[in-house]
Amino acid sequence: LPTQLVDRFGRQVTYVRMSITDRCDFRCVYCMDEEMTFMPREQLLTLEEIVFLMRAFCELGVEKVRITGGEPLIRRNVDWLFEQIGQLKHDTALNELTLTTNGSQLPKHAEALVKAGVDRINISLDSLKADKFKALTRTGELEQVLAGIDAAKQAGFKRIKLNAVIMKGRNEDEIIDLAQFAIDNEMDISYIEEMPLGHVDHERGESYCSSDEVLETLQTRFDLQPSIAKTGGPSRYYQVAGSNSRIGFISPHSHNFCSTCNRVRVTTEGRLLLCLGQEHSMDLRDIIRRHPGDMDKLKSAIVKSMDIKPEGHDFDIEAKPVIFRHMSVTGG
Ligand code: GTP
Ligand code: 5AD
Ligand code: SF4
Repeated sequence: LPTQLVDRFGRQVTYVRMSITDRCDFRCVYCMDEEMTFMPREQLLTLEEIVFLMRAFCELGVEKVRITGGEPLIRRNVDWLFEQIGQLKHDTALNELTLTTNGSQLPKHAEALVKAGVDRINISLDSLKADKFKALTRTGELEQVLAGIDAAKQAGFKRIKLNAVIMKGRNEDEIIDLAQFAIDNEMDISYIEEMPLGHVDHERGESYCSSDEVLETLQTRFDLQPSIAKTGGPSRYYQVAGSNSRIGFISPHSHNFCSTCNRVRVTTEGRLLLCLGQEHSMDLRDIIRRHPGDMDKLKSAIVKSMDIKPEGHDFDIEAKPVIFRHMSVTGG
């Protein structure tokens, strides 16, 4: 078996995003519908299956694992999962364990996460005004997330990054305030262009705000210098002069980054998804359950999946969504 994953376009896969639950305590308007039907629990990979799967990837050269959701920290026994995956750093290619979270549960988990070897975390924060935050997340409380951010700072992660999806008519007036908050707290922040995944109750084309517009707004206040910083993720970074913070832009529409794609995703039900914006996939849960404990079978399947990794997405923000699954199932 090879020790690296390389696709037909010569791109090496070194980054896996694992969604461990499609459930969430929030209902962000760009992510979910008001009413959501979640997956029956028996369809989810068990925590043991997730650890086995992450071992397979990390023995195939994957260096970075990011746990996502839904909200990963609402899954039961999640601290155990992080401990187990953290152990993979000792005898596989894994060198960075990361997490994307809405922050609400961090007061309960931050310390255990650092202890388990989580290096960095990304926390979603789309507004600093309590009423707007509520309107955007539908069920979230700003206070809760601010407490989560504090807990993360106390716990001592190597780096904390905020994620903000900017939407016209929702939070575009907070672009500068969000950056200032990141700078004041010595964190990074990435601004994300909304992606048309799953049905939501607004027209995506109407709320779409391009990274160039966000950048222009930021430049009225901050001195931003293009940075060569790389995290393995899709952000293009700028250093904020005179601060420790970087500002990133994730621009799937305006600056397509598919040609340098280094990632794959595993959905909550164990489907290996080769691209966020396409349906090419392989059912790894089926392989794990039919051949329990057979690492070589699993690894061969993953190696084979590289042949179906598509060249890129073809998102169209104006069109009706062609991808019906919500972001929470694929983990972004
Ligand atoms: P870093 O490790 O800090 O660079 O994080 P990241 O940006 O890779 O991860 P995060 O979970 O914070 O993701 C932020 C946004 O980037 C989410 O909205 C993801 O959906 C989006 N994203 C990540 N990878 C891809 C990708 O391959 N294609 C597209 N279209 N979006 C992506
Ligand atoms: N478009 C862009 N970003 C999204 N996120 C969730 N749904 C979408 C979408 N449709 C963001 C969340 C989180 C990250 C993982 O993905 O805000 O920060
Ligand atoms: Fe939950 Fe994240 Fe989706 Fe918001 S974006 S509803 S916090 S999974």
